[in-house]
Amino acid sequence: MTPPPLDHPDPTADPTAGPTADPTAGPTEQRVDFAGVDIAYDDRVLEPRAWTVAQSTWVAELGADAPPGPILELCSGAGHMGIVAARESGRALLQVDANPVACDFARRNAATAGVVSDVRCVEMTRATIAPGSFPLVLADPPWVRRADVGRFPEDPVEAIDGGDDGTELAAQCLTVAADALRRGGHLVLQVGDERQLAALERHPRLVAGDLRLEGTRRFERGLLAHYVRG
Ligand SMILES: C[S@@+](CC[C@H](N)C(=O)[O-])C[C@H]1O[C@@H](n2cnc3c(N)ncnc32)[C@H](O)[C@@H]1O
Repeated sequence: MTPPPLDHPDPTADPTAGPTADPTAGPTEQRVDFAGVDIAYDDRVLEPRAWTVAQSTWVAELGADAPPGPILELCSGAGHMGIVAARESGRALLQVDANPVACDFARRNAATAGVVSDVRCVEMTRATIAPGSFPLVLADPPWVRRADVGRFPEDPVEAIDGGDDGTELAAQCLTVAADALRRGGHLVLQVGDERQLAALERHPRLVAGDLRLEGTRRFERGLLAHYVRG
């Protein structure tokens, strides 16, 4: 008997079986509305978290009284937080992330939002950033303790692993921000909790008075800390 053409449904197939996953298929692109901005991402980067709009908004608020100049965003991922802060404050952006996929999304998302962004795909300590030139810095480093990373199987490890106590990358952000900020400039840093914040108080640039903690805002899923450059 002649077999049916290949595009026919197979009459012997189990009708209750679902579609078979194609092992060669790439990641599926997704989109989310983040404070009115259309953001594309996939599972190779951290999924934008709705509560973090608060970090963008805080940076934009601080920008109202800050001197002109662009916003520096460290650990920008798909770029949404910096993009919203830039849109709300009418400023340009410099975004830094070590993950090339995240950087591609950040570039595309900024273009979609009509925001001017220079996206640098490099580890933050190796980014060439003009010292003392930024009035505002926003930073969202990985801050999950290494021992807890397995509790978040949906998230890419490089996006959440903050080292033994979760502050390894946050400490790097403090160093880079202290160098990049002009005097009186603002940093809004995201960490996990008060314990991490207390550990960061021993950072050499805080001890030296280059940065001082000005205030915090607590959220169910994380803590935002506002530092001022001395
Ligand atoms: C917690 S995610 C935040 C991403 C984004 N802000 C968000 O809300 O989805 C941390 C980001 O830091 C990036 N990252 C990790 N280590 C880095 C480093 N040394 N330098 C620059 N970026 C780094 C990761 O690629 C990841 O995109």
